[in-house]
Amino acid sequence: MKRLIYALTKLARQARRLGLKVFTGRSPLKPKRVVLLVVATNKYLRFVEPLLVSADRYFLPGHSYEVLLFTNLDESPECRQLVDRRAGQARGKVHLRHIEHSPWPMMTLLRYRFFTQAAAAILEYDHAFYSDCDMRFVAEVGEEILGEGLTAVRHCGFHDKGRALFTYETRPESRAYIPANEGLHYFAGGFQGGRSAAYVQAAAECSRQIDDDLSRGITAVWHDESHWNAFLCRQPHGVTMLDPGYCMGERMRTPYPSLILALDKDHSQMRTEG
Ligand code: GAL
Ligand code: GAL
Ligand code: MN
Repeated sequence: MKRLIYALTKLARQARRLGLKVFTGRSPLKPKRVVLLVVATNKYLRFVEPLLVSADRYFLPGHSYEVLLFTNLDESPECRQLVDRRAGQARGKVHLRHIEHSPWPMMTLLRYRFFTQAAAAILEYDHAFYSDCDMRFVAEVGEEILGEGLTAVRHCGFHDKGRALFTYETRPESRAYIPANEGLHYFAGGFQGGRSAAYVQAAAECSRQIDDDLSRGITAVWHDESHWNAFLCRQPHGVTMLDPGYCMGERMRTPYPSLILALDKDHSQMRTEG
């Protein structure tokens, strides 16, 4: 079965690349304006350039994309050089947004607050996608990610697991709580997005829920990812669902071809300060 899924997915993708219409019969879209949202403070800044070089090659070819980089190092020479090096490029120009750094997991948890604060800038684009900075595009990610509403990736750790094993938030005190009889899919936090208006709206709602949790001293089990799952569980309609290949652990093996890798890194080393 796994092999069959793999073969069919690969075939569909190859056909799409050759410009053939597959199943959906979707016709090529007018070029869209897309913003890639990236949060990278301190040590994480080093991941950004390789991520963007991979995006230049594989992220929505035929469409334009620009980057909104949220960082505390916006005044640093590294950041300035990054912006300058990319300024002349056709795709992937970088715009900086200053944020303050706080220790892990705050920089992942607060992403929706940053996006809400940058809502006006994000709404200048047709579509918005967030990628963890420690990711790499390794194959073409095309128009299949552009839907009418939100776009969410099924988490690679759960593609073959049942509801009982999903790591949703289980404490009713958290606004990310999902009752045991609800929730059909477990989505990854590492790559997500949608039509800008839909994503900005989802970000605002998740940000409110996260702030509410924080005001009562609660952090959901998988941080922002728990809130993203709770949001999608409450509002599942019109979501473009992507298979786990769009956020695949670097060394994970699933039946799905890998398109975006979540890089293996030394988490304990990356998540400590200094
Ligand atoms: C990490 C996240 C990275 C980056 C960083 C903030 O938790 O995986 O993508 O957002 O926080 O510097
Ligand atoms: C892990 C992943 C975490 C989180 C968790 C959910 O594999 O590294 O970021 O998504 O799964 O259970
Ligand atoms: Mn990551």
